[in-house]
Amino acid sequence: PFAFDAQRDAEFERLAKRYPTRESLILPSLWLVQEQEGWISAEAMAYIADRIGTFASMVYEAATFYTMYNLQPKGKYHICVCRTLSCYLLGKQEIVDYLQQELGIKPGDVSADGEFSLEEVECLGHCGTAPVVQVNGEFYENMNVDKLKELLATLK
Ligand code: FES
Repeated sequence: PFAFDAQRDAEFERLAKRYPTRESLILPSLWLVQEQEGWISAEAMAYIADRIGTFASMVYEAATFYTMYNLQPKGKYHICVCRTLSCYLLGKQEIVDYLQQELGIKPGDVSADGEFSLEEVECLGHCGTAPVVQVNGEFYENMNVDKLKELLATLK
């Protein structure tokens, strides 16, 4: 069964003292789960509800409302490609096509070995250096296929 590890448990307790209402703990608690597991299972949502003392349905609603929460397992390397205007205009499709071909997965999928997952996301906030790719939260800017090749080589 899911439980916070010692570090997240301590962080949860620290936040619990600071937040005015129990419900305001839902979003930071979901982040803690995602940090720990890479994604948020129904089991983890029930655990949070229990820890906070609220309904599991409230946790579920929050987790499904915000797109930054992963509700499915991700690969060891989770690759996000921005698909919003600047990145779209400056070649995000070429990047997505290359990744699909190299990794053998489509956006939304995880590779069979669990190493890679791919996702197209909305603006990552670095439009001036489009196209932008993010791997496990780290930014790679002004991307093109050559740079992607190098990046994948370091990950594989
Ligand atoms: Fe891609 Fe903003 S449009 S980072």
